[in-house]
Amino acid sequence: MNRIFSGIQPTGNLHLGNYLGAIRNWVRLQADYECIYCVVDLHAITQQQDPDELRASTREVAASLLAAGIDAKESILFNQSLVPAHAELAWIFNCVARLGWLNRMTQFKEKAGKHRENALVGLYAYPVLMAADILVYKATHVPVGDDQKQHLELTRDIAQAFNSAYGVDFFPLTEPLILGVATRVMSLRDGTKKMSKSDASDYSRINLTDTPEAIAQKIRKARTDPDPLPDTVEGLEGRPEAHNLVGIFAALADISRADVCQRFGGAQFSKFKEDLTALAVDTLSPVTAEMRRLLDDPGHIDSVLRDGAEKAEALAQPILRDVKEIVGFLSP
Ligand code: TYM
Repeated sequence: MNRIFSGIQPTGNLHLGNYLGAIRNWVRLQADYECIYCVVDLHAITQQQDPDELRASTREVAASLLAAGIDAKESILFNQSLVPAHAELAWIFNCVARLGWLNRMTQFKEKAGKHRENALVGLYAYPVLMAADILVYKATHVPVGDDQKQHLELTRDIAQAFNSAYGVDFFPLTEPLILGVATRVMSLRDGTKKMSKSDASDYSRINLTDTPEAIAQKIRKARTDPDPLPDTVEGLEGRPEAHNLVGIFAALADISRADVCQRFGGAQFSKFKEDLTALAVDTLSPVTAEMRRLLDDPGHIDSVLRDGAEKAEALAQPILRDVKEIVGFLSP
C-alpha cells in the first residue's frame, strides 16, 4: 500500500518555493494516494519562537494548505504536537541513529553556523524527528523540495538500522518524491541561493500573503543579467538568475523550461517579467484570498486540525504499539 506523508514548518511566511516545490504537489497527489500532511510545530521550536507567533503561524500555514487545495476530508491535515506518537518514536530512533550520520547533515551545519557549541540539541536531532514523522505512519512516499533529500536518505538509514538492530522487516524504505520543474526555487536577489523564509531581505522571495502590487515590485526588482533571454535551455547555463526565473515561469505555467525559452527567446527581461508577474498573480491571488477568508475563523481551522490529529493518531497508535513490543517494553 502506498501512503504519502509530508510536513511543513510554521515559521514565518510561506513562499513560492514552498508552494511550487511542495504544496502544489501535495494537492495533486491527493487524487491517487492516501495523504497525511502535517504542520510541524515540534520542528519549529528547534529555533527560538515567540509562542503567540507560533500559534498564529500554525493557523496561517494550515489555512494556506487548505486554500491551496488540501482537502481535509480526503486527506489528513493536523499539527504535529497534537499527536504525541511522533515524539515517542523520535526518542526510540535517537537510540538507533548514529552521531556520525547527524554530523553529516548540511542543514544542521548551515543553521548552527559558527556557534555550533551553542546550537540546540533539538536542532541537531531534527532529522531524527523527521524520520519519526514519516515512519510512525509507515509512509512509503514523501513529496518534498530538493533541499530535504539528505534528510530522507537519513530516514532510510534509520529504518534500515531499526530493522537490522531488532532483526525485523518492519519499517519500509521510504522514497522521496521530488516532482516538477521547481524543485529548488532560488532567491530573487541571488540565483545561487535558495529562496528561504529566513532570508533577511523580503525582496528575495514571493510570499503567499503578498499583494499583486508587492509581487509585481519584487519581480521587477529581481536580479537578472544584461542579455536577452536565450531560445534554448542550454543558453541558461551559467546564468543562475535567468535559469531561476525561467524555471518559476515554467512551473507556474506547467510547461518545461524549453517551452519558456522557445516562447521568450530573444526577448528582454522587462517584457518577460511583465508576463511572469501576470502569471504569478493569477496563480497566487486566489490562494491568498481564500487563505485570508479562512483566517477570519480561527476556530474552524483549529477544529480541522483537531479532527486531522484524531485520524492521524488512529493510524499511528497501532504502529507505535508494535514498535514498543519489538523494542521490549511491557505493554500497558
Ligand atoms: P520546510 O518547512 O522548510 O519546507 C516545506 C517544503 O517546501 C520545500 N521548499 C522548497 N522547494 C523548492 N524551492 C525552495 N526554495 C524551497 N524551500 C522549501 C521543502 O523542500 C519542503 O518540502 N524539514 C522539513 C519539514 C518536515 C518534513 C517532515 C518534510 C518535518 N518533518 C517529514 C517531509 C517529511 C522542512 O523544514 O520543510
